Amino acid sequence: MNRLRFKLYLTILPLVTLSIVLSGLFASLWSRMALTRAANRHLAYKAEQLRDYINGEWEVLESLRLADKEEYRSAAKNSFRSYAYSLIRNETEQILVFNADSVLIQRIGLESHTEQIQEETSALPVGTIPRTGWFLANLYGEERVGVSFPFDPFGWVVAITELKETFFLEVKRIQITHIVLLTIVILIVTILIAIFVRHIVGPLERLVRTIEHIKETGDLGFRARIEYADEIGLLAERFNSMIDTIQADQARLEDAFLIERKSKESVRQREYETLLILGRISDYRDEKTGAHLKRIGSFAVLFAQIMGKDKHYQELLEYSAPLHDIGKISIPDSILLKPGKLTEEEFEIVKKHSIWGYELLKDTQSVYLMEGAVIALSHHEKWDGSGYPKGLAGEDIPLSGRIVGLIDVYDSLISERPYKAPWEPEKALQYIKEQKGKHFDPQLVELFEKHFLEFLQLG
Ligand SMILES: [Fe+2]
Ligand SMILES: [Fe+2]
Repeated sequence: MNRLRFKLYLTILPLVTLSIVLSGLFASLWSRMALTRAANRHLAYKAEQLRDYINGEWEVLESLRLADKEEYRSAAKNSFRSYAYSLIRNETEQILVFNADSVLIQRIGLESHTEQIQEETSALPVGTIPRTGWFLANLYGEERVGVSFPFDPFGWVVAITELKETFFLEVKRIQITHIVLLTIVILIVTILIAIFVRHIVGPLERLVRTIEHIKETGDLGFRARIEYADEIGLLAERFNSMIDTIQADQARLEDAFLIERKSKESVRQREYETLLILGRISDYRDEKTGAHLKRIGSFAVLFAQIMGKDKHYQELLEYSAPLHDIGKISIPDSILLKPGKLTEEEFEIVKKHSIWGYELLKDTQSVYLMEGAVIALSHHEKWDGSGYPKGLAGEDIPLSGRIVGLIDVYDSLISERPYKAPWEPEKALQYIKEQKGKHFDPQLVELFEKHFLEFLQLG
């Protein structure tokens, strides 16, 4: 989710850390060099002092022509020792005196005061200590840094030395301090970068969350928070005005949709009324109130409902079922209103109303009229194939025709007609049941029986 934040961390952090580490390393190297130089100067200064001192003493002895006298030579050595001792400042510093064979003959240090080493047990390999200059050598088990100079009258090489560890102690301390400081600086910088990134990316992330929220919930009442007067703030502001526009457009669309729905509803209502009137024309000679046709519509809807058909199909049946007998307008009154029994020829004419109805309705754009044509043609077909006009059987008869065929017979039975009294609904149901699989679709008869109370309530 926080990809931008992650990218910024990945870019800024390594760069800043690298530059801090590099500058730290440089400072550390530089201070190491400066400290080493200072320590060098310290030892070199002592070497110079000592060399000038012994040379000065010797020059005095020579000028007095006492240089070859042993007691004066010995005194000069003692004086050298005392002076050398006075130069020592700490316990690890030592002034070493070697004879011409690199054998240590004196070790002058704080803990030993002036120690003289006479035995030839500590000879160093030739070249370990240079006659003049700097060295870093292992002297009797200790790593030592030092500077040496020769004193030829005694055949000496004098070395002013310091333990390597002590010599570089300050350097080490400063390095540790550097590492600690570097770590602290990197930590502080990381926190500062986190605050910076949060400050920069936070508003952007919240803007993205707002967009996501609107996308997921579709809640156009939601607005982005304008946090700062910068580019991101401007972006949030533009986004909000865009949502304002969309919201206004949506409201207009909803209004238009509502108006359209209302006008569609009113058109449909008018179409229904027209269809009903159309149906009543055919039924007018039988029943003037149109109640039969309305019940047929309601029964058809109930059938569609209990069969689990959708609203569209329910409405289709409701509007088209009342047209089933529209073809009757072509039947002459003399036949249709004839009180007595019809002759075979007359009945053949009556049977034609299904085809006439179909012919009347078939060429149309209206789905209701088209379905009405189907129902008109098929509502007198019988499940066993003994119906008319085509003698279709079983599921070859359109479902709407089978449904209307059943409820039309039922409603005719329970209605009063000039030639008969109304039947009790239970008697009509009994008749329907008797015709199961003969006149009527067995499945429809079962449904009708199962939901009979609901049909009763409608009737
Ligand atoms: Fe009919
Ligand atoms: Fe009818």
